[in-house]
Amino acid sequence: MTKISSIQDTEILRPVSSGRSTTTAVVGLQWGDEGKGKLVDILAPHHSAVVRFNGGANAGHSLVVHGERMAFHLVPCGVLHPGVRPVLANGVVIDPDKLIEELDILAERGIDTGTLAISDRAQIVMPYHKQEDALRERLLSSDGDTAAIGTTGRGIGPAYAEKAARATAVRAGDLVRPDVLRDRVNKACLMKHSMFDAGGLDALDAGALIDKALAWGERLGAHICDTSALLNAMLGSGNPVLFEGANATLLDVDHGTFPFVTSSNASAMGIPAGAGVAPRHISNVIGVVKAYCTRVGGGPFPSELHDKTGGLIRERGREYGTTTGRPRRCGWLDLVALRYAVVLNGVDRIALTLLDVLSGFDELQVCTAYKLDGKLLDHMPSDADDLSRVEAVYAPMTGFDGDLSGVRSRADLPSEAQRYIAFIEEHAGVPVDFIGVGADREQSILS
Ligand code: GDP
Ligand code: IMO
Ligand code: MG
Repeated sequence: MTKISSIQDTEILRPVSSGRSTTTAVVGLQWGDEGKGKLVDILAPHHSAVVRFNGGANAGHSLVVHGERMAFHLVPCGVLHPGVRPVLANGVVIDPDKLIEELDILAERGIDTGTLAISDRAQIVMPYHKQEDALRERLLSSDGDTAAIGTTGRGIGPAYAEKAARATAVRAGDLVRPDVLRDRVNKACLMKHSMFDAGGLDALDAGALIDKALAWGERLGAHICDTSALLNAMLGSGNPVLFEGANATLLDVDHGTFPFVTSSNASAMGIPAGAGVAPRHISNVIGVVKAYCTRVGGGPFPSELHDKTGGLIRERGREYGTTTGRPRRCGWLDLVALRYAVVLNGVDRIALTLLDVLSGFDELQVCTAYKLDGKLLDHMPSDADDLSRVEAVYAPMTGFDGDLSGVRSRADLPSEAQRYIAFIEEHAGVPVDFIGVGADREQSILS
């Protein structure tokens, strides 16, 4: 595996200076898996640090570099590039077992992660959070209804809930403060006792959990620091910083399709709080959009396809979860949802990914409006029940054909594909200046 990108160097890869700092933010505009990881890997060499600010090991970011596929769950995707500092900021929830597993895999591949910085304020996902995640999902689906969220089972919701509850939460800094750690884990076990008992789970062994957490501290201690201070110092001295969004806007806990969402602010709004930098540093927001839509887990999905076409998109796009292996639900591009996400994130430009997957369809459909109770809607309803009842209104578009994976210029795409992109730009109101035509780093059009 070469660490050096041979991708062409162009203006669009450079971070943008707001006058006070130089940053790029990459966020997903749909329900996740838009190809954020691939874009972050391409942008990383132009930055000094790549920062995860939200989510945890629920994320699955895949890269294909010269034919070799890799998946990242916690470690930021910029890690393949020497000299780019990977940072797990305070807004991330960290499962140390998963993180150590990932660091070991990278070490086996000869990739240096020595500069990894872990925020002392980041929440730790404890083993009981994963048990609680599974228990909640089991109870929610026990009466056969569709209330279960379909989480990744990585303990994300319970870990963020523990953070909000405060006194029983373990932060990364506590892994190297044995007295605080013991106190917090003992209290957490006490408080969870009745829930675990009622759920038919074994009683928690606080002593064993404390020993495990102390061992994590020994392994990860050298990486734990105040990442907010680190990032502000970098920004202050003109070092460009790249923010790597995990999950996506429509899964944002406040602005997504609640309650079928994750538990963090997965939009650009999550960056200041999740990275510990002032909002004025967030400029140059790149929204990543699949040329169609996918969703994993439960929740409304107005343009979902339940037919052969949906299956074809799934197979062609290898639409199976990076984290859980679950088949992803597939559907046509939803421009109503896209417009919502563009405004919410203050998107400056769009990276349109997986365009190649749509090649070979005679006709494509694009959702341009919804119908609810016979009335046309041009916006996303905030209520998930209403959203689950809307009917998608489609604009048909002529399809395109041929292998796009070798195309490196927008002008060389089939004219119908160019029209598809122009239609998206017109509706979204922002330019598409990155186009993915294959999974490999090199299979990209930068215009
Ligand atoms: P992320 O979570 O947003 O980083 O996205 P995932 O990695 O979960 O899912 C995106 C999938 O599409 C991965 O398997 C990528 O390797 C792949 N991918 C990314 N961009 C492209 C593209 O332009 N074309 C194709 N065919 N695959 C792509
Ligand atoms: P990346 O970063 C796709 C979904 C789960 C579930 C809901 C809540 O790879 O795009 P959670 O485990 O977070 O409590 O699950 O959110 N979800 C994702 N779907 N890609 C992701 O991340 C996701 N992260 C969470 O499937 O529906
Ligand atoms: Mg993913």
